[in-house]
Amino acid sequence: MSCRLAVLVSGSGTNLQALMDSAGRGDCAAEIAVVVSNKVDAYGLERAREAGIEALHIPHQGKERVEFERALVSALQDRSIDWVFLAGFGRILTPVFLDAFAGRVLNIHPALLPRFPGMHAQRKAFDAGVLFSGATVHFVDAGTDTGPIVAQGVVPRIAEDTVEDFSARILTMEHRLFPMVMRWASDGRLQQVDGAAVVQLNSGESRVLFEE
Ligand code: GRF
Repeated sequence: MSCRLAVLVSGSGTNLQALMDSAGRGDCAAEIAVVVSNKVDAYGLERAREAGIEALHIPHQGKERVEFERALVSALQDRSIDWVFLAGFGRILTPVFLDAFAGRVLNIHPALLPRFPGMHAQRKAFDAGVLFSGATVHFVDAGTDTGPIVAQGVVPRIAEDTVEDFSARILTMEHRLFPMVMRWASDGRLQQVDGAAVVQLNSGESRVLFEE
């Protein structure tokens, strides 16, 4: 049975691209049915169009938060969406949206949560002098990057790294991590139970990746 995904983006959409590439290879039962952005010029929308996927712009300007989220919910419900993946989506979501897709909304964050939530996580980790950081996929709750952790990818900081080098290495990890979680979700192997993420792992799989 196919599993219908919506990917929400606000920017360049390299994570979206990694998800589309993986779904396109038939790595899993996921079908990316729609890509939605609050920004008309998000390059992620262009990537979707190039891949023949519906690209939908739902602006947030001039709307109350509730009105924006209701518009999102109804667009996704109209398309029978099962899972929502936030791939660089620049809006905090409230229970208006989250309750409509309870236990079905995932986000990717460029740090090892719970360290360095919020914006500019790579720079915050870099400035803190960490020797490693990484990426986290988590269920979304009403907090900022606080929901149950699904999977993490660990990335070293190398002595000569600039913040740009370090961020690029984290992004490469994100591109492995999010498709892996997409497979779990579309196989029906990922659930949120009592405030925790539960994954049925196949042999050889792990919820922690390390840089190869
Ligand atoms: C990624 O670093 C992701 O972790 C964060 O936003 C960024 C989106 O990048 N939430 P891209 O648009 O997927 O290239």
